[in-house]
Amino acid sequence: MNKIISGFSKLSKTQKIKWLGENYTDNPDAFEAELSSWRHSDDATQRVVDGFTENAIANYVLPYSVAPNFIINGRTYAVPMVIEESSVVAAASSAAKFWQERGGFHAEVVSTLKIGQVHFMWSGKPERLYEIFKILKPRLFEATKDLTANMRERGGGITSIQLLDFENLEPGLYQIRAWFETCDSMGANFINSVLERFADTLESFFTEYPDLADDERDVEVIMSILSNYTPECLVKAWVECPIAAFADLARSQGMDADSLARRFQMAVRIAQIDPFRATTHNKGIFNGIDAVVMATGNDFRAIEAGGHTYAARNSQYRSLSTCTVKNGHFRFELELPLAVGTVGGLTALHPLAKRSLEILGKPSARELMCIIAAVGLAQNFAAVRSLITTGIQQGHMKMHLTNILNHLGASEEESAAAQFHFQHQTVSFSAVRAFLQEKRS
Ligand code: MEV
Repeated sequence: MNKIISGFSKLSKTQKIKWLGENYTDNPDAFEAELSSWRHSDDATQRVVDGFTENAIANYVLPYSVAPNFIINGRTYAVPMVIEESSVVAAASSAAKFWQERGGFHAEVVSTLKIGQVHFMWSGKPERLYEIFKILKPRLFEATKDLTANMRERGGGITSIQLLDFENLEPGLYQIRAWFETCDSMGANFINSVLERFADTLESFFTEYPDLADDERDVEVIMSILSNYTPECLVKAWVECPIAAFADLARSQGMDADSLARRFQMAVRIAQIDPFRATTHNKGIFNGIDAVVMATGNDFRAIEAGGHTYAARNSQYRSLSTCTVKNGHFRFELELPLAVGTVGGLTALHPLAKRSLEILGKPSARELMCIIAAVGLAQNFAAVRSLITTGIQQGHMKMHLTNILNHLGASEEESAAAQFHFQHQTVSFSAVRAFLQEKRS
């Protein structure tokens, strides 16, 4: 049928579900019953969740998991993770356990500045604009004093403002670029409000400032927005150990510790050289990063976008992690931008985001950056370790077995039998189906 509707957002939730069921599904009653069931039992909490977006009609569930035993900078964390992919939490936990006995994860924040931009057009000479900008710049600080007061009190605010000239790429195009310290908040709303005030100030300055010639007054603001590329909000996490500490792991895979370390380093090197591998390699890193970013109510799209740009910063997309094996020592490091907050946004509004921060010991944004980077590195370590030893499918399909069994409607007893059977068998959809068919017959 596929109908167009006007005023959908004005309908009540029940009306929206009913309309959708009637117009877009084969069984409106079943659809209505299903959708209406995905809600929080507490009405007040449900109202908060509904308030996050327009046209919310149900809660979409994902597992809220925990990877315990993460030692990061000498402190132990149980890390909350929100992700649907079967093997991710198991892999993170297993890497956490592995490094627990080898000094744990180390992490340090390199920098914490974020960037915002006002893009505008002006048709005069660049040198003249730079002269004018000297007068305008203090006014930009002044005009945003009320907006930055709170942040300045917390030790943040605007740290610098510059004029950039894009004339060589697009005639008449300039940018006001500003750097911000946003303390424990991610700061997107703060930065965007300041930038929009900059834009207004710029426009009124060019209209009102007496010492401008008539042909210098024509300025056009195109847009004002923060950048999700935050190469100056950077964190580094690493693990290191003598190669000999790989002896047990290597033995279990029928190789020696040196070969394991060498193969690991080569796998990371391949992701430095080849963008196709780098993309998958970094995807593995973001499996861990996004899961913690989601669990703590942060913006995983912003983190992903900034991370991938950083991976391409030297004009080729490369691995975000590096590995060195030197003088009998193994070091594996991840460096990436992570603009996250532990106050503001969803962090206090989403009931489970609040709980995540509680589990993590109410970290500052800097501490959260360290935790997230360590989990990204752990995830990467676990993936590469599997790839250079057993292959990824063994662990992945073992975890995926539960999904296949659920999909095939296995009973508890059948599931238990299948889990036992597939301990030493290759898991595939058809193998599990055949196993159940045989059991049922
Ligand atoms: C799967 O979600 C992630 C991996 O492909 C990462 C990798 O290949 O490094 C296993």
